[in-house]
Amino acid sequence: MADDVRTLNVIDRNGALHTVEGLDGWRVMEIIRDQGLPIKAECGGACACATCHVYVDEAWLGKLVPPTDEEVERLDDAFEVTGASRLSCQILMREDFDGLTVTLAPGSEP
Ligand code: FES
Repeated sequence: MADDVRTLNVIDRNGALHTVEGLDGWRVMEIIRDQGLPIKAECGGACACATCHVYVDEAWLGKLVPPTDEEVERLDDAFEVTGASRLSCQILMREDFDGLTVTLAPGSEP
């Protein structure tokens, strides 16, 4: 496995776990979409739609880079927002996020 390949665990809207791989620097949304998992991500990662909404696994919440004001504002447009809510297009994969687990949130269905 190349040095910059990371593992991402994605729980879909049916509760099924998918373990996928992506490269450092990729948006988590892109990794999910490129693996063929269902995510709407309407704006393509521009932080303009909130349809890439995910819930971050509790163990990972404090480890991620905090959301920007723009992301927090856009999350207002998402459904059923919780303290674990993030926009997956705003999380860039990197070495210490290897093994990150996210759950696709309501409203992210294509
Ligand atoms: S893809 Fe639109 S906000 Fe993330």
